[in-house]
Amino acid sequence: MSRKILVTSALPYANGSIHLGHLVEYIQTDIWVRFQKMQGRECYYVCADDTHGTPVMLRAQAEGIAPEQLIARVHGEHLRDFQGFHVAFDNYDSTHSEETRRYAESIYAELKRAGLIDQREIEQLYDPAKKMFLPDRFVKGECPKCRARDQYGDSCEVCGSAYTPSDLINPYSVVSGAVPIKKKSEHYFFKLSDPRCREFLQAWTRAGTLQPEAANKLDEWLTSGLSDWDISRDAPYFGFEIPGAPGKFFYVWLDAPVGYMGSFKNLCDRLQLDFDEFWHADAGTELYHFIGKDILYFHALFWPAMLEFSGYRKPTQIFAHGFLTVNGEKMSKSRGTFITAESYLKQGLNPEWLRYYYAAKLNGSMEDIDLNFDDFVARVNSDLVGKYVNIASRCAGFLTKRFGGVLAAPELPADIENAFAAAPEEVAGYYEKREFGKALRKIMHLADLANQYVDANKPWGLAKDPTQEKLLHAVCSTALALFRDLTLYLAPVLPQTAARACQLLNLDDLRWDDASKRLPAGHRIKPYEHLMTRVDQKQITALLDANRENMQTASAAAASAVAREIAAVDGATIGIDDFTKIDLRVARIISAEHIEKADKLLKLTLDLGDQQRTVFAGIKSAYRPEQLVGRLTVMVANLAPRKMKFGVSEGMVLAAADDEGIYLMSPDDGARPGMRVK
Ligand code: 2FM
Ligand code: ZN
Repeated sequence: MSRKILVTSALPYANGSIHLGHLVEYIQTDIWVRFQKMQGRECYYVCADDTHGTPVMLRAQAEGIAPEQLIARVHGEHLRDFQGFHVAFDNYDSTHSEETRRYAESIYAELKRAGLIDQREIEQLYDPAKKMFLPDRFVKGECPKCRARDQYGDSCEVCGSAYTPSDLINPYSVVSGAVPIKKKSEHYFFKLSDPRCREFLQAWTRAGTLQPEAANKLDEWLTSGLSDWDISRDAPYFGFEIPGAPGKFFYVWLDAPVGYMGSFKNLCDRLQLDFDEFWHADAGTELYHFIGKDILYFHALFWPAMLEFSGYRKPTQIFAHGFLTVNGEKMSKSRGTFITAESYLKQGLNPEWLRYYYAAKLNGSMEDIDLNFDDFVARVNSDLVGKYVNIASRCAGFLTKRFGGVLAAPELPADIENAFAAAPEEVAGYYEKREFGKALRKIMHLADLANQYVDANKPWGLAKDPTQEKLLHAVCSTALALFRDLTLYLAPVLPQTAARACQLLNLDDLRWDDASKRLPAGHRIKPYEHLMTRVDQKQITALLDANRENMQTASAAAASAVAREIAAVDGATIGIDDFTKIDLRVARIISAEHIEKADKLLKLTLDLGDQQRTVFAGIKSAYRPEQLVGRLTVMVANLAPRKMKFGVSEGMVLAAADDEGIYLMSPDDGARPGMRVK
């Protein structure tokens, strides 16, 4: 019986853009899925946006829109980027869907029925200004170990120690700058410490479902003991409310993997597929999750345990990959290597260059992969243009011009015949095991053989000799037959070029088992059209420059988003009493300085007549410091001091801002520092 396979990639968060780091996974998965489909297997690839949680909620507030509007817009952007890189999902959904809600609720109900949900009060940090509990990443302060400033609530980036947010010294809320207080609230926990969970996970994680490195990691985690998992969050939260628990929401990581089911259910309804065939506890079909190694914990512990105790099937295997570095380093905005999918495409780079390069670097392990741009240029130009395309471009023209496009029977020398005959199985084996680098090395070895054959027979020389007509026909037909095989092997990686090559070869599609059948004599090809251009180093320079430039635009957008958030006050009206609470004063800027390592901020010293204040203002993208010194502006004088990375900000200057620019407010001539603004 033919295999039936359901495949997923991790769901990207709906609060950010797709970048080249994300694409490692989607390209890896897409190649694998295309390969399975070419094998004639019934294979579905589903994904969705991961829409819930605090960051999405805050980003929507900062933009002055509803979370539903934000996630709808980002969904469109993500889909556009994926399509741009030929990532062909069978369904791309959202976790904010009725299907996902239904499965999340029913899984929760089953876990509860199984006695695996616990309820207890916990104490957390709370932002009294914003009236919300603060996730770990939204509290900063001094590291309790090394006293480094501005460290997140979960770990210190300077000394590496891990702690809880309440251990921070002088903590402050990243959302409002306020000092957090401790507050109690009732939470719901998935009892992973229950012996049933431990026993199940011990067996499951050792049953060949994980790569060896992942299984070792899991062993470590299981040996050090599992704690119960907090699956609830308090309002305000963008997510699904927990049934029977008003004001409590499922934590985003509870419903995120359920989104795999939700998206697949949505596909089932569209295509009349049987959901249970893929998710029933005894399903005979296969289920694979492609993920990054950073989210192994969720996929190899929480998720299988959720599935086991709510009566569903578990994943057949989890395929974790490593991180992407660019030119040997972490992606960096200042170096221009934090490259969005959108900018890569907008700069006119071919998405298949990146697909090919990633594939050449990928294997079945969790090792990190490096995108080295010099290597990228060299490899794409030499392999794809210099080897693969070269075969067709050197031979197809003669067939069209001299033989009406009709092929003669191929005449392969025995060594080439043997090498090509063994390839379908070997290359398929590599694809199946996600050893894409090995697959491409093998394919390029075959391309070398084909080129050697063309070089040895020199069709351009034969074409000049009327007595060699027959040989010219045979050589070019043989080269095209080999080119067809190479196209077939490269098709999972280069779907668009393969489609163009199919047009040239006058073929409807390519299936893996076509490799055993040579193109027959009498088959007619179409005129050759250009298949792929070379990468120019200048395009890479432009790409890096564009991503450096983007940052400045991004800072302006961020500054205006913050301004809007402050101005909008959630859209509510305020009374005159509220307004008079704000002490607005005319101030003179007496000094303005750049801050090293701050990309948005300038440090201003303001004279208020009877006192001076230091204010950090996000206006660097709009003003040079020397333009500001001496001018008057308006400041909020009674804003609580805010501790920022570079010092304490004692107020705020007012500016008009939108995506296009930032304009500092100033009074008419005659106003003096310290005057009240009303
Ligand atoms: O780490 C992330 O980007 C998550 N949004 C992945 C979720 S994967 C799945 F569980 F939904
Ligand atoms: Zn530290």
